[in-house]
Amino acid sequence: MNRVFNFNAGPAMLPLEVLQQVQAELLDCQNSGESILEMSHRDPIYDKINTEAQKDIKDLLGVGDDWCVMFMGGGASLQFSMVPMNFLESGKIGVYAETSSFSDKAIKEAKKEGRVEVIFSSKNEKYNRVPKLSELVLPDNTAYLHITGNNTIEGTEYQEYPDTGDVPLIADLSSDILSRPIPMEKFSLIYAGAQKNIGPAGVVVIIARRDFVKNREKTLPSMMNYEIQMNKNSTYNTPPVFGVYIVGLVAKWLKAQGGLAAMKERNESKAALVYAALDAHPDFYKAYAEKASRSFMNVTFGLPTPDLEKLFVKEAAKQNMKGLKGHRSVGGIRASIYNAMPREGCETLAAFMEDFYIKHKDEPKTEI
Ligand SMILES: Cc1ncc(COP(=O)(O)O)c(C=O)c1O
Repeated sequence: MNRVFNFNAGPAMLPLEVLQQVQAELLDCQNSGESILEMSHRDPIYDKINTEAQKDIKDLLGVGDDWCVMFMGGGASLQFSMVPMNFLESGKIGVYAETSSFSDKAIKEAKKEGRVEVIFSSKNEKYNRVPKLSELVLPDNTAYLHITGNNTIEGTEYQEYPDTGDVPLIADLSSDILSRPIPMEKFSLIYAGAQKNIGPAGVVVIIARRDFVKNREKTLPSMMNYEIQMNKNSTYNTPPVFGVYIVGLVAKWLKAQGGLAAMKERNESKAALVYAALDAHPDFYKAYAEKASRSFMNVTFGLPTPDLEKLFVKEAAKQNMKGLKGHRSVGGIRASIYNAMPREGCETLAAFMEDFYIKHKDEPKTEI
């Protein structure tokens, strides 16, 4: 079988070893005589899978039992609503940094729940950067600050996180969760759709301080109430069992790779290959993101003409590289190089970029 290098923004590649394990265990999960797909979420085997996945994620992030890990459905998009529903107390302000169209969606949902203030926006710069920390000044009465850690569409990522003191910091880390160590002491809650770095679509991982989630709004629908999800150990209702199982396998794979410090090194050196190819020909390849805000997960750039961009995607596909077309709101090219993208994929892309440049550098250009 000829596996492609899948540069899609998500769902994205999963580690081959994980897929092979899923395949090997699919008919008989841990000698139970049944598939994980058929298993009750009350089965002791699932309980063990759920508990181990939670523990492995906490180990990777270096947090203890004062934190909880929850698995839910609804996509990261449901978290856009759940965060303000649970934490935007009346009389307080939900504070947001708007760095992408996903932050914008989070802001729109929060406005339905209460008072919101956007203290930073790079919308007028087409979301080509994240804020400097000095640009994040919190108003009095802030309920929480919400940031989008990695901006999947635009290819920007925080390299440092703000210190918000007593004000809870909440982050959407959908596209860079578990790709590098993060200073968890700065955060109260992080969430991520699994389908980019840690699993398949259909499961969202929420990691929160237990005391932050406790004693919140009691009248919320139960499914929207973090405290209920936490107290019921992510089995208040039928959880996305198969997704949780795969997230658990990916967490074990990440540990086996050497944990998040090793992943950071690996991901940075993969990204460096692609950025070097980009920076080698600045008249031809136009980086979308400001240098200081560049993402290690999504590399975004344009070519001199839309026709060349189309050709780039088409020719790359012939060389086993799929999913390089940029998001429709940004255009150009986007290479998503999450945890499971092998280094070889980035080497192949970088070599292709150099070849493509040599072949097409003298063609007439229009401004992009
Ligand atoms: C940063 C970010 N937040 C939120 C979302 C929305 O996630 P979902 O499709 O799981 O609702 C995405 C999806 O691409 C994303 O990249």
